[in-house]
Amino acid sequence: MRLRRAHSLTCYWHEDEFVVHPYLGGTPTALHPVAAEVLSAFDSWVEAAKATEELDHLTPDTVAEAVEALREAGALLVEDSDEAERDELAARTWETWAPEAPFFHYGTQIDAERLPADREQAREQARNDTADAAGPQHRVFTEYPEAERVLLPRVPAELDVPLGRALYARRTVRDFTGDPVPLATLAALLVTTFGPTDFIDSGRSALFRRTSPAGGSRQELDAYVGVLAVEGLSPGFYHYNLREHSLELVSPGLTRDEMTHLGTDQPWVGSVAFTVVLASVIDRMSSKYELPRSYRVSLLNAGHLGQTFALTATALGLGPLQTGAFYDEALARRIGLDNIGSIPVYLLGAGYAADEQPYAAPLAGLEAFRRTRLT
Ligand SMILES: Cc1cc2nc3c(=O)[nH]c(=O)nc-3n(C[C@H](O)[C@H](O)[C@H](O)COP(=O)(O)O)c2cc1C
Repeated sequence: MRLRRAHSLTCYWHEDEFVVHPYLGGTPTALHPVAAEVLSAFDSWVEAAKATEELDHLTPDTVAEAVEALREAGALLVEDSDEAERDELAARTWETWAPEAPFFHYGTQIDAERLPADREQAREQARNDTADAAGPQHRVFTEYPEAERVLLPRVPAELDVPLGRALYARRTVRDFTGDPVPLATLAALLVTTFGPTDFIDSGRSALFRRTSPAGGSRQELDAYVGVLAVEGLSPGFYHYNLREHSLELVSPGLTRDEMTHLGTDQPWVGSVAFTVVLASVIDRMSSKYELPRSYRVSLLNAGHLGQTFALTATALGLGPLQTGAFYDEALARRIGLDNIGSIPVYLLGAGYAADEQPYAAPLAGLEAFRRTRLT
């Protein structure tokens, strides 16, 4: 019987233990670090006895013990097994994004067999006990009390555009007039997308809701506005204080060139009237939800906010854009975030759309369909 090291495999140190994590379906297992060396002898299909010969500086017992543990964990696969076939398929399919993306995806899957209900219940209880004893573990709102602030106008947003019209009119815009946007328009967009619509009693504390659904309703996503051309505001990055409905200046000054650069040098990112950086506050989510799956949920939450932003901007007569491409660390630092407790996850923007849209792709004609494998 020949064995091979799983392709879908990550090894790391966690809480002082060396962990072998065959993420496609194996079990994360803490082993002696010698396991890594044993794994190195299984690059391709090989008999365990042959591999043991190669590892002649280790005793045969050590190798046998490690091989046994690695097989059990799913880090060593048996030739022609279903697991080996799936591992090959995953390696081919995810090759371009490996190992980061498949590790994140499969490593955060929920597996009923590994989540005994009583264990989860016990953990949940422990968390609630701690929260009750120590008070809420996280702040519902991010605030910058010392920052210079601009109170935003509270005017009713003119959002009486039929939903169908907003849905079909929404387009990602990449060419803008450069005209400044009235403060009231920005205010309407911010309050509609990010402001609280009401508060609920979660059992342990009050939480607020927005016009977008949010997994867990922790509202871990903060909005930072990069002002380029908004009437009455100096360029710079502001935090949208949604409790106060104000903008708090967190980092003064912003040029179109700098904004473009932060958006990985995509020229349209700096040509908007303003950008909005969605930043996820880790402990607002992790203090309640322990499973790493919650990180995925936070990204989904950002998508929902992005869609509400785009539709609302459209209804207000603005052209929206969004991008997942930005220099994470540079953008975070520019806003004053440490990129650890609060991390940028999505970059949005809006402004007045230009009449001409040279960056927009033309509609597909017959020629394009002829070049396309449709089925
Ligand atoms: C999550 C996400 C990321 C995107 N990233 C970029 C980007 O980096 N650059 C860009 O020009 N457009 C980006 N877009 C816009 C898409 O290219 C655009 O939505 C797509 O071409 C469909 O056009 P539409 O939005 O007008 O329907 C992104 C859109 C989404 C939803």
